[in-house]
Amino acid sequence: MGVPRGAHSPLATIFFVAIGLLLLCPTTNAQLTSTFYATTCPNVSSIVSTVIQQALQSDARIGASLIRLHFHDCFVQGCDGSILLTDNSTTNIQSEQNAGPNVNSARGFGVVDNIKTAVENACPGVVSCADILALAAEASVSLSGGPSWSVPLGRRDGRSANQGGANASIPSPFDNLANLTSKFSAVGLNTNDLVALSGAHTFGRAQCRTFVNRLYNFTASGPDPTLSSSYATTLQQTCPQNGNGAALANLDPTTADAFDNNYFANLQNNQGLLQSDQELFSATGAPAALVNSFSSSQTAFFQSFAQSMVSMGNIGPLTGSSGEIRRDCKMIN
Ligand code: HEM
Ligand SMILES: *[C@@H]1O[C@H](CO)[C@@H](O)[C@H](O)[C@H]1NC(C)=O
Ligand SMILES: *[C@@H]1O[C@H](CO)[C@@H](O)[C@H](O)[C@H]1NC(C)=O
Ligand SMILES: *[C@@H]1O[C@H](CO)[C@@H](O)[C@H](O)[C@H]1NC(C)=O
Ligand SMILES: *[C@@H]1O[C@H](CO)[C@@H](O)[C@H](O)[C@H]1NC(C)=O
Ligand SMILES: *[C@@H]1O[C@H](CO)[C@@H](O)[C@H](O)[C@H]1NC(C)=O
Repeated sequence: MGVPRGAHSPLATIFFVAIGLLLLCPTTNAQLTSTFYATTCPNVSSIVSTVIQQALQSDARIGASLIRLHFHDCFVQGCDGSILLTDNSTTNIQSEQNAGPNVNSARGFGVVDNIKTAVENACPGVVSCADILALAAEASVSLSGGPSWSVPLGRRDGRSANQGGANASIPSPFDNLANLTSKFSAVGLNTNDLVALSGAHTFGRAQCRTFVNRLYNFTASGPDPTLSSSYATTLQQTCPQNGNGAALANLDPTTADAFDNNYFANLQNNQGLLQSDQELFSATGAPAALVNSFSSSQTAFFQSFAQSMVSMGNIGPLTGSSGEIRRDCKMIN
């Protein structure tokens, strides 16, 4: 049976539709994969880990600082390395580093540059800065006693920063539970992710200015009632009224530099340092059951944490031919 001129046979139509779908797939359904650099940079994870191990020798806090960079990167136009770009009038970059949640607070940029140099030496032009942040987050947690997980890779680097977005989207320590829930939900993360990922406050430091309001005149009769009074007294030594707002306290007063589940026992004991921490247990409607579960089982916490880190790392990645592989994490190519 013949086919009229100018039309396709049914089989040919199916063929063209199938090709069309195949061409669409990589752009509409781009996925990160843990084997992305298996042939182009097989050793990238261990290179990242080695540089962080060296940095930890002189700075016990650096792992905490590095995972926070990945978090602050992902919450602003996706995990695209945008937080690493510095102010640049030629390329019109108004840096996220100067946004409220990051200025005089985000740190670890020098170590990211050292990692990038080591990775470029092994595999030039291949690994994105956004993926380096995701790998550094995992290495920092596992080197501190926390879980390991296989990190989905294949993100590309953005060519813009969004300072206003960083001001608006990154959670504040003064946020209540509703604010926190809505900022996580805005990037596709749920309450389980909020509680599990807040467990990253099991290590690292916070400056007095982020919690001093809880220590004095929080109510007419004194400190925040959801703050243990003995802990408040200790914190008042570190953070005197009208003292240095940049002085540091450990986010986890029990095991400062270890990645463990003590953060959740702290919340049960009214020893959450930030208001946003204690809200997870003490606020009306708080997901206290999750806090109790992570406090009683470190295994449950580690498993949820790893899973939620993968979810956070999947926020709006650039893939395929979008973005670029930056040569220098601080500036666009
Ligand atoms: C839930 C909302 C969150 C709020 C309101 C919040 C807020 C803060 C604040 C105010 C600090 C102290 C910064 C300073 O004083 O310079 C801090 C530190 C830190 N945050 Fe968060 N954070 C949140 C979630 C997260 C998440 C999801 C992670 C990672 C998965 C994370 C990891 C860290 C780490 C490790 C530190 C210590 C950093 C260092 O010592 O350099 N935070 N956070
Ligand atoms: C992988 O990297 C580590 C750490 O930098 C290094 O010790 C090791 O020799 C590397 N292995 C290969 C096969 O390049
Ligand atoms: C973001 O916040 C910082 C510090 O509060 C402020 O200096 C800056 O102008 C803000 N930027 C934008 C674009 O809103
Ligand atoms: C939290 O949300 C409330 C109401 O939605 C808002 O008035 C308040 O300013 C927010 N707090 C912060 C710290 O963003
Ligand atoms: C705030 O609290 C401090 C110490 O708790 C007290 O000395 C001071 O008078 C209080 N200030 C106000 C304005 O209530
Ligand atoms: C600004 O960005 C351009 C392009 O990435 C780069 O060549 C230049 O060195 C940057 N300037 C500064 C001051 O970083």
